Amino acid sequence: MTPEEFRTAAHTLVDWIADYRAKVYASELPVLSANKPGEVRAALPAAPPESPEPFDAVMRDLDSIILPGCTNWQSPSFFGYFPSNSALAAVLGDLASTGLAQLGLNWQSSPALTELEEVTTDWLRQMLDLPAAFRGVIQGTASEATLVALICARERATGYAAARSGLQSAGKPLVVYVTAHSHSSVEKAALLAGFGREQLRLVATDEAFAMDPDALEAAIREDRARGAQPCAVVATVGTTGTTAIDPVEAIGRIAQENDLWLHVDGAMGGAAMILPECRKLWAGIERADSIVVNPHKWLGVSMDCSVYFVRDPEHLVRVMSTNPSYLQTGADAATINYRDWGIPLGRRMRALKLWFLIREQGVAGLQARLRRDLTLARWFAARVDATDHWVRLAPVPLQTVCVRHEPPGLAGEALDAHTLDWVGRINASGRAYLTPSQLEGRWMVRVSFGVEMAGREHVEALWRLMRESAERPVTETASRL
Ligand SMILES: Cc1ncc(COP(=O)(O)O)c(C=O)c1O
Repeated sequence: MTPEEFRTAAHTLVDWIADYRAKVYASELPVLSANKPGEVRAALPAAPPESPEPFDAVMRDLDSIILPGCTNWQSPSFFGYFPSNSALAAVLGDLASTGLAQLGLNWQSSPALTELEEVTTDWLRQMLDLPAAFRGVIQGTASEATLVALICARERATGYAAARSGLQSAGKPLVVYVTAHSHSSVEKAALLAGFGREQLRLVATDEAFAMDPDALEAAIREDRARGAQPCAVVATVGTTGTTAIDPVEAIGRIAQENDLWLHVDGAMGGAAMILPECRKLWAGIERADSIVVNPHKWLGVSMDCSVYFVRDPEHLVRVMSTNPSYLQTGADAATINYRDWGIPLGRRMRALKLWFLIREQGVAGLQARLRRDLTLARWFAARVDATDHWVRLAPVPLQTVCVRHEPPGLAGEALDAHTLDWVGRINASGRAYLTPSQLEGRWMVRVSFGVEMAGREHVEALWRLMRESAERPVTETASRL
């Protein structure tokens, strides 16, 4: 493809994306893909084309095969999982990144890549009001960031022995403290970092599903008594299930007293800390050794852009540094080599999409949107609280409301069946999307606000839809039971 051919094709594609977004924003497409498993695969040739195909043919298939197989995360009626916003400014940044086709191996291989990442992650640090000591690096996902954090924790706790001699060198078993509400990526990171499931301690939580600091202290004492070595604690600011907020201040104090690495998982909730009024939720954050915040969730940067902040990058460099001769340059001493700050060697210019978004919105624009979402969540929670037989199951510190419709006489498995039935019908209708999830062994529904284009009218429509779906068939369901 020549640059001129690219120009024509790119205009077509950009028009197509703009039309797609316009349809999604106007709720003209079902939120959840109605595809059956295997449908996309079956519609595509099993083997690659032998001869070149015209770009038009690709566009036709994009429209007729790929699009119906897409769940529309940018729909204003998407209330599932968590917001995975991809603001159009960030889409442009991503396009620029791919067009520039930079590959960061060291500073010299793309000076702008490194320095833009330094600047944008520091902008984000300032937006979050983190102390200047924190330095940021863009990683693919929070899962990778948490893995890196736990590897650093392991190394610091063993005086870098594992990096030297492998896991065999570890004397005492190293323990990581989490709660049952921590994201599954934390358990995965602990396993991949070699801690082992047996050394993953689930600390008790309070009635708001947040880590109980007294229980953490007690667990540390017990572990020392059995000859284990407490190593790291992961506090979550905005758990996936209920957006519970672990008390960072108290956990940080315990971590410092006991020489534990404190990693704060703010993958989703961290974005709210661009709002001064929310920062009390992670009071004590300066005690953290590392923090992960995903601009690719609520903030609006297209996937993938997860920012890992670390108080002392030396821990990263001592563990992650590789220095083969072909990558060495005269600039090394004066520059950051981000390959030493994480797992991959090569990196894309992912900072561009963060940079485009922050510049297009300004901090004030991003703050206004997040404030709107917090207000919508509170408005919705108030409707739930005021309506008979609807129960809110957790506090609403951020943008997620956990609810259940509990008609009289329905409990246990019958209540679970009712929950899955009404939410399943909403999702199948394509009119909105909600994620059912289990809380303390029973099904409930998480209503997650924060999609860029979702306004009050969409939330009102959702509430009507939920009531229609859950309340109308209750008599039918009840009579069938
Ligand atoms: C609190 C929390 N941590 C971590 C993750 C994992 O994020 P990623 O997909 O970037 O690995 C999620 C995603 O839902 C999350 O909610």
